[in-house]
Amino acid sequence: MIILKLGGSLLTNKRRKFSFRSEVMKRVAREIKESGARLVIVHGGGSFGHPLAMEYRLANGIVSEEQLHGVALTRAAMTRFNLLVVEALIEAGVNATGVQTSAIAECANAGVKRLDLSTVKGFLELGLTPVLYGDVVLDSMRGVCILSGDTLVAKLAEEFKPERIVLAADVDGVFDRNPEEPGAELIPEINPENYAKVLEAVASGDDATGGMRRKINELVAPARLGYDSIIINALVEDRLKKALLGEPVKCTVIKGGNYP
Ligand code: IPE
Repeated sequence: MIILKLGGSLLTNKRRKFSFRSEVMKRVAREIKESGARLVIVHGGGSFGHPLAMEYRLANGIVSEEQLHGVALTRAAMTRFNLLVVEALIEAGVNATGVQTSAIAECANAGVKRLDLSTVKGFLELGLTPVLYGDVVLDSMRGVCILSGDTLVAKLAEEFKPERIVLAADVDGVFDRNPEEPGAELIPEINPENYAKVLEAVASGDDATGGMRRKINELVAPARLGYDSIIINALVEDRLKKALLGEPVKCTVIKGGNYP
């Protein structure tokens, strides 16, 4: 099986609350169907999760009553987002089923303490395509925390031993500086040797879960277990399909290995 993360910035416009890129999702769903791959899918928060989580400062837990309203709003928004993704997949002929991350996971001080993947496994074995997502989850120390889609990917890799991990983004991979800056170059491979240098180069970002630097840190978790992950630009037609089929595509590979 393959673990596929659909990034929030691929499926939504992060600058506009609740903006779903339905045309992108439609094509992504078609490419998934055409690949015939057996998948567990995870999607991010994008403009459904991040603006609310930031507005109500949920990343550091609950310190005031009004934040509970933020938890409710963020959870509702993520449920809506998940349904939009699942419906597009079904429309394309993929038998997808949403799995509410916050119903199967719990954290302690923002680290995953419990993740019950028996439901995911059951759906997968039946031939369905489970679709999880980054979510607001219970935290025994902080009340709640944000469990990112990338952390979920690492946990799923541990459990399912995937043949591939594909991270579908709206950029070609990891760049040596902001990709919008002139002269920015794609880093084709991240490995234990260049890892520290890459971390230095990328921006820490300002979303609810810490941008690209935090992402790379989390993506190294499956690499430490020996799995390669590839970051690809799914805005380019057929790139996702090729990546799912194991064909070579433009990407950044995060190589499995002994990371510091
Ligand atoms: C964040 O998940 C989930 C919430 C903010 C509720 P991710 O951190 O995986 O989301 P993206 O892919 O960066 O949007």
